[in-house]
Amino acid sequence: MAALCAFKKHLVNILFLCYSVFDLIYVQFKGEFKLEKLVIEGKTRLSGDVTINGAKNAAVAIIPATLLIDGICTLDNVPNISDVKISCDILEDLGAKITWNSEHCFTIDTRNIHSTSAPIDKTSKFRASYYLLGALLSRFKHAEVGSPGGCKLGARPIDQHIKGFELLGAKVKVAQGKITASSKHLQGTSIYLDTVSVGATINIMLAAVLADGTTTIENVAKEPHIVDVANFLNTMGADIHGAGTDTIKINGVRKLKSEGTYSVVPDQIETGTFMLAAVASQGDVTIHNCIPEHMASLSSKIVEMGANIEEFDDSIRVWCDKRPSKVNIKTLPYPGFPTDLQPQVGVVLSIADGTSIINESIWESRFQYTGELNKMGANINAQGKTAIFEGVEKLSGAPVYATDLRAGAALIIAGVIAEGTTELYNIEHIDRGYESIEEKFRKLGANIKRVNE
Ligand code: EPU
Repeated sequence: MAALCAFKKHLVNILFLCYSVFDLIYVQFKGEFKLEKLVIEGKTRLSGDVTINGAKNAAVAIIPATLLIDGICTLDNVPNISDVKISCDILEDLGAKITWNSEHCFTIDTRNIHSTSAPIDKTSKFRASYYLLGALLSRFKHAEVGSPGGCKLGARPIDQHIKGFELLGAKVKVAQGKITASSKHLQGTSIYLDTVSVGATINIMLAAVLADGTTTIENVAKEPHIVDVANFLNTMGADIHGAGTDTIKINGVRKLKSEGTYSVVPDQIETGTFMLAAVASQGDVTIHNCIPEHMASLSSKIVEMGANIEEFDDSIRVWCDKRPSKVNIKTLPYPGFPTDLQPQVGVVLSIADGTSIINESIWESRFQYTGELNKMGANINAQGKTAIFEGVEKLSGAPVYATDLRAGAALIIAGVIAEGTTELYNIEHIDRGYESIEEKFRKLGANIKRVNE
């Protein structure tokens, strides 16, 4: 009897301990660890108007670029997404003062930066944290930045960023989950990138803005967000030429202006996502606040699929009144077909008439979404960097997982055009890069809701 009582007492203690541990973990993480999913009822033909926000990949570079300024600047058309929030959060940790004027506009005061160190708990939440290296190195000649995170798309080395910093005269060390770069003096030089890299182009440009003399970077990336970062820096007093061509020349300046205002360029990838949603759903969508010229590689493919495009100054109408035809795609740096639209075009090809091939030339692991689409009835065979899409007549709703940001956007399109119900999990990936995505789709007629489990 005594033994039974002792056992009961132990059991109660163990249960209490388990409860306490669980409660502690829950309290610790409840703010960050949301179990949300999107529930989409297909099948919908999208129609109407949608407005595009500022570009994620420009905003997440321009925000750290404000560290080059010893002053105050106002950024407008900033997308309200989690990658922007975390960028702002890190800058505040470093001593910046951020005042939000409206949902998409804030003023940032970088006069009292007191730290050049950004720890891994925040830098690992997104890829663009590596821009802190170039920006802090440029202004303070020292940066200690935790390893970057971002979508798992295969190996994501930063050897070209480091090569650029070193050629400018910095000492760079990578150890214990952080990258440290420091220099007494940065001297302009000639840098040839071995790989066309968006991140390395922007990061080296940031580091060179306040260096002595002229830096020339050859074989650079030409994406619209690179031009936008250069435009921002020039607005603030930098002397950068050639952004958008193969060679960027930066004449170092002593100091940037202490005041300025800049509006972020519209998001090329969000624009493309809605263009492809219109084609996939055989809908009719007009996309506002975009730059049609940035969409040339996609627009030509959409026409090849048999859909229609009408371009205006800052809007595009896309409509499709028959099953899209097969096309072949090879992803390439801008002005080629963007890798960040590959999963979304993959959804269209999964239901296209005929067999299409996608060749992914940027990332090793960008076909993870094809497994999810196959759960919905697609017939895709992905091997290495090539995937063969045997177009099927229709997709059917299923529980699926957003394997990364663009895969998540693609699976929303798949859910919209599929018959039945799709439950989409891991949607925090999507929130990193798309503002109010379900509201935008809902406005176009989709039956989509966010459910908190
Ligand atoms: N690469 C190297 N060495 C380097 C840098 C890159 O070998 O030092 C290789 C990469 O492994 C890859 C290729 O070069 O094969 C291109 O990489 P890049 O540096 O251009 O990519 P990134 O800067 O890491 C940005 C975007 C990505 C987008 C790529 C390509 C940001 C924050 N991210 O990444 O966007 O896919 O360029 O356009 O700008 C997204 O928004 O969903 C996204 C993944």
